[in-house]
Amino acid sequence: MPAPIVAVTRSLPDPGIAPLVAAGFEVRHRDVDGPCPPEELHELVRGVDGVFALLTERVDEAFLDAAGPQLRVVANMAVGFDNVDVPACTARGVQVTNTPDVLTDATADLAWALILGAARRVPEADRLVRSGSWQGWRPMDLLGLGVAGKTLGILGMGKIGAAVARRAGGFGMRIRYHNRTPSPDAAALGAELVDRATLFADSDVVVLTAPSTPETHHVVDAAVLASMKPSAILVNVARGPLVDEAALVAALRARTITAAGLDVYEFEPRLVDGLTDCENSVLLPHLGSSTIEARAAMVELACANIVAVLGGDAPLTPVNRPDPRG
Ligand code: DGY
Repeated sequence: MPAPIVAVTRSLPDPGIAPLVAAGFEVRHRDVDGPCPPEELHELVRGVDGVFALLTERVDEAFLDAAGPQLRVVANMAVGFDNVDVPACTARGVQVTNTPDVLTDATADLAWALILGAARRVPEADRLVRSGSWQGWRPMDLLGLGVAGKTLGILGMGKIGAAVARRAGGFGMRIRYHNRTPSPDAAALGAELVDRATLFADSDVVVLTAPSTPETHHVVDAAVLASMKPSAILVNVARGPLVDEAALVAALRARTITAAGLDVYEFEPRLVDGLTDCENSVLLPHLGSSTIEARAAMVELACANIVAVLGGDAPLTPVNRPDPRG
C-alpha cells in the first residue's frame, strides 16, 4: 500500500516535519516562511490524505474541493480554528484538530506583557530612550497606571483566560469574568461571573480571550468602548475581529480609554488607518504562542494528531466528530 501523503503548508519550527517522516508518510512540504496563497495551497493539497495547516490558511469548500475526497485530517497548528470551515469538514468526513493547552502559559504570559506594557507605557519609554531625547529622571516622566489592587475583567474564561487570571493573583487584583457558562476555575481563582456590560464598565483592565465566532464579532465596538472607564486598558490576545478596530482607534485618540495592547488585528496583518499613530497602543505581531517551548509542542501535537488519524486511531485533540464515511 502506498504511504499516506501529508501536505505541510509552511516552514515549521523544531521538530518540523520529522514526526511525519518518522511515521513513514510521504511529506509534501512547502518549506517557505510565508503565507501560502490560495491557488498554491489548493495545488499543494491536491490528492493528499492529511494537511498540517496554519491559521494563515483558509480551509474552506474550495480547499476541500481541491484536496479531494480522500482527505482525512486537517491538523491546525493553533488553538483557534476560525480559519477552518468546520461544518464543511465534518460534512465531508474530514477530522479537524487543534493544539490546545500547550500554548496556554505562553499566551497568558504575553497577555501580561501587554497589560504591563500598556499600563507602564513601556514601548513609549523605549522609544524615548532610543531617540536620544531622554534628559534624565523627571518626576513626571511617562506616568503610567498601577495595576495592583485593581479589577481585571476577562472576556472568555477558558484555559487561557484562567491562566491570565491566575497570574493576576501576584498583583492582588480583583478578578471578574464573563462567559456563557460559569468557569470551573472561577472558585479557585476567586473570580466573579458578571454580565458583559458590567465587565466592560467596571474593569480597570479588560483582557479578551474568547474565540472568534459570529457571536463575538465586534464584541468591543464604539458603544462598549464608551462604556469603559477613561482609565481602562483593553488587551486582545484572542482574535482581531472581536474588536471594531476603527472604533478602537477613535477611542484611543479621544482617550475614551487610556491604552490598548493588541497581539491580533481585525484584518491581520493589515492594520486600520491611524492605529500605529496611537502612542497609547502597544502593538505586537500575533506572538501569543511564540515561545520555543510552546511552538515545538504545537508542532508535535499537530503531527501526533495526523499520525493518529491516518493510523486509524482517535485524534488527541479533536475539534469535530466527523462520520468516517464522509
Ligand atoms: C492560536 O493558537 O490560536 C494562536 O493565535 C496562534 O498562536
